Amino acid sequence: MKLSKYSIKNEKFLKKIRIAVISDLHGSDVDSAVSLLQKNGPDIILAAGDILERIDGVGEKINKMNEKGFELLCSVAKIAPTFYSLGNHELGGTGSWGMGFRTRRPERAEWSEENLARIKDSGVVLLDDSFVFFEGIAIGGLTSGILNGGGEPNIHWIDEFCRAGCPKILICHHPEYYEKYLREKNIDLVASGHAHGGQWRFFGRGVFAPGQGIFPKYTKGIYENRLTVSAGLKKGGMIPRIFNEPEVVIVSIN
Ligand SMILES: [Fe+2]
Repeated sequence: MKLSKYSIKNEKFLKKIRIAVISDLHGSDVDSAVSLLQKNGPDIILAAGDILERIDGVGEKINKMNEKGFELLCSVAKIAPTFYSLGNHELGGTGSWGMGFRTRRPERAEWSEENLARIKDSGVVLLDDSFVFFEGIAIGGLTSGILNGGGEPNIHWIDEFCRAGCPKILICHHPEYYEKYLREKNIDLVASGHAHGGQWRFFGRGVFAPGQGIFPKYTKGIYENRLTVSAGLKKGGMIPRIFNEPEVVIVSIN
């Protein structure tokens, strides 16, 4: 697990802020991410989706993976105020490999009260197509549109978010939404994951990512001074990561 640090300038932020981004746990071990966050003491933490699997998913494997997700959420919420937005795996949908979205268990679109309560009890602020104000910053979460027709996210609330007269941070699991839905919007930082760094990295480029296909554009780092993409926390897996260590991201603004 590595720590990737980036700095950006934005005069709308009146004081310096250090923002951690974590994403794509997929049942992996949480200790190294938590210890990196403890050592680095960010001001806020953005959990950018695919931390829990389909929350009402049945079966022991999913439940075990979710225990890791809840462990992560509970642990990081003790380190700094944490804001959590939902990825395709929280909605029960797998990604696409550039071939259109496919879904899994779409009949389970709603979470149980019990599991929603568990997220709230973890201490994180759940942002499910919504935003909050925190210390003079608007922080929103754009939920994955994997279960919607055509995989479109629900962006109807985004314009109201963009009208907030303060700096705006949007957590958005899918980096491929940036060009299509967000680039023209008045948003100061977009925090994404989902691409797993492009899974294999050669010469600083990822090879493939769900939703972007082969040689994806947005896989890891900072783009256009305001989109940050985390390569995710997942270690190992069926398709190994090559030259692509799991990471915790810290973005310092100003
Ligand atoms: Fe994802």
